[in-house]
Amino acid sequence: MKISFAKAALPTEGALVVGILENRVLTATARLVDEQTGGLIARALAASRFEGKKDQSLLLLTPAGLSVQRLLLVGLGKAEAVDALAAQAFGGNALAQLLSAGDQSVTVAADGIEGAPLGAAEMAANIAFGAKLRSYRFDKYRTKEKKEEKPSVKKLIVGLVDHAAAKRLFAPLEGIAEGVFLTRDLASEPANVIYPESLASQAKALADLGVDVEVLGEKQMRKLGMGALLGVGQGSERESQMVVMRWMGAADESVAPVAFVGKGVTFDSGGISIKPAGGMEDMKWDMAGSAVVIGLMKALALRKAKVNAVGVVGLVENMPSGTAQRPGDVVTTLSGQTVEVINTDAEGRLVLADALWYTQDRFKPQVMVDLATLTGAIIISLGDHYAGLFANDDDLAAKLQTAGKHAGELLWRMPLDDPYDKQIKSDIADMKNVGGREGGSITAAMFLKRFVKDTKWAHLDIAGVTWAKKDGAVTPKGATAFGVRLLDRLVAENYEQK
Ligand code: BES
Ligand code: MN
Ligand code: ZN
Repeated sequence: MKISFAKAALPTEGALVVGILENRVLTATARLVDEQTGGLIARALAASRFEGKKDQSLLLLTPAGLSVQRLLLVGLGKAEAVDALAAQAFGGNALAQLLSAGDQSVTVAADGIEGAPLGAAEMAANIAFGAKLRSYRFDKYRTKEKKEEKPSVKKLIVGLVDHAAAKRLFAPLEGIAEGVFLTRDLASEPANVIYPESLASQAKALADLGVDVEVLGEKQMRKLGMGALLGVGQGSERESQMVVMRWMGAADESVAPVAFVGKGVTFDSGGISIKPAGGMEDMKWDMAGSAVVIGLMKALALRKAKVNAVGVVGLVENMPSGTAQRPGDVVTTLSGQTVEVINTDAEGRLVLADALWYTQDRFKPQVMVDLATLTGAIIISLGDHYAGLFANDDDLAAKLQTAGKHAGELLWRMPLDDPYDKQIKSDIADMKNVGGREGGSITAAMFLKRFVKDTKWAHLDIAGVTWAKKDGAVTPKGATAFGVRLLDRLVAENYEQK
């Protein structure tokens, strides 16, 4: 779908989208259309229950007096609540209704709204961003899709007077959307396609954008002493990998980087502690944390963020086999601490233990944030509306929560206090990898905490928010890429030179 910005004018083909504010208040273009059609909108509003509330919409076919095929009225809600996220939802919801309706072109009127917290250009850029995010499809394996099931929309035109300003504002957002799409693609791919080496080569492709990419294989990781990560991968035919990505966008190379670390279990069968069959296919997206880190690096590079950022992903496949790790095995981590592996299905924390230690030791980052589909327990705690946030630093936690609100990716802070640490004491090693059913997400985070020294650090448990069971305004059902927009905002709001 090609996106462009043009001077506002009524289009002569395709579909036209206009906004209606709460209590049936028409935006400027809606008023113009209403005049040109002899009061069509007023009559339609009177005949329907559409009131212009957020997320409401009303579709009118072949409206007399206009040469477009379709006129879509979309509710904007209250003027004072039309912020960037509302504009994105407006664009996303509008596009979703028209994407496969038959029209090739969609024009959205981005009228400035009096009393709204954002101007017309910003509104237009965010409408385009929302539409782009919602246009995502993972359809490469559908060979029999009928023509009428495929999207018909080829171009999206956002209309406003100051189209040049909107275009400028959209450029970085488009970069972020590209990062989101990469993350969604990687998480959606099945595990016979995405395994540690193929995921590493996807990361390597970022070199074209100026990202420095290094890949460590098992030999190098063994030499370094990453016994925890390697133990998880030892049952798999696939070779484990660690990828280090560096985007050095700050003017000063010596500024300590911001570090992002991702869990990349390309398939989590549970290992010898094998999972039940029902739903096991979901574990193809147990590498979502790493996919977010890769997509984020792409977004930062595309929008040329003025920040030094490091992305580290630990990539393994967790499989049962004759060479697999056994319950009761003891492994020595890169940090030197030993772990008794009680349950081979609590593998993400083992991978992150080595990845976190490696990252802080080598890069001395000013802050370090990891993302992981770490626990089923976080789904029980928070459902799919919030990701779990665990942090050893209040300031970093607050920055993340604020960025999350701005990006529409919410974080709920969970405790990370010493009493929970008792649950992971082992009889024969420094710790064990499970802490029982009580507070399962917290004891997992406490485990990670043992591998963080004095670095400011936060852990995002994204198990509940990574895969959407139904469509959202800017996220079609499937892989959400939760974390890319949030961490991009975190960087933009706090760690970028102006
Ligand atoms: N990858 C899973 C967590 C998960 C579950 C992610 C469902 C997404 C959806 C993780 O490796 C796991 O298996 N965790 C176990 C830990 C337990 C054995 C202590 C869990 O949550 O059950
Ligand atoms: Mn597991
Ligand atoms: Zn897992």
